[in-house]
Amino acid sequence: MKNIAVLVGSQRKKSFSKALAHNLIELAPASLQLEIVPIAHLPFFNQDWEEDLPTPEEVTAFRKTIEEADGFIFVTPEYNRSVPALIKNAVDIASRPKGKSKWGGKPGLIISNSPGSISGFGAYHILQQSLFTLGVRLMSFPEIYIGHVDTLLDDDGMMQNESTRDFLADSLKKFEKWVEKHTK
Ligand SMILES: Cc1cc2nc3c(=O)[nH]c(=O)nc-3n(C[C@H](O)[C@H](O)[C@H](O)COP(=O)(O)O)c2cc1C
Repeated sequence: MKNIAVLVGSQRKKSFSKALAHNLIELAPASLQLEIVPIAHLPFFNQDWEEDLPTPEEVTAFRKTIEEADGFIFVTPEYNRSVPALIKNAVDIASRPKGKSKWGGKPGLIISNSPGSISGFGAYHILQQSLFTLGVRLMSFPEIYIGHVDTLLDDDGMMQNESTRDFLADSLKKFEKWVEKHTK
């Protein structure tokens, strides 16, 4: 069993990204234990934590969660053609202190989404750039962009669109193999 930390880039109550993350938990193969890791309570990163300010407890706890995870799934909306600050802040927090990044060498998957047709493409690629630099072993095939997400879910956030559900389930099976290949 591999523990996969799921990071969601929206704290909105009826967030499509959150709904997608819950669908992924349902669709994941048995060998992948997906868990949504809260990030909305994290303070903004402060490099003074490496100097003269104490590191907040929630930051230390989050870094430990990331350190203990076997892999990561990032479900991100797009804000102004970029990745939301919520996710970027979490990525920055677990990338430090310098030389002690918790991300490197582990398998990862990005899923972007939007009610629009560009599907969060900008957010996907900007996040990919940071994660690549941090050494996350990103699965790059298939690329997962979910457009018109608002039309695919029911009122409870469950995936109603069969082909999207099959695509996500199939992508998670591929990720299962990817995780196997990239974990010790
Ligand atoms: C600050 C802000 C910027 C946005 N910029 C984009 C954008 O660049 N591209 C896009 O497709 N949607 C954009 N949107 C619309 C979001 O895709 C939409 O609000 C979406 O529902 C947010 O994700 P969530 O449902 O997971 O909260 C933006 C929304 C906000 C609040």
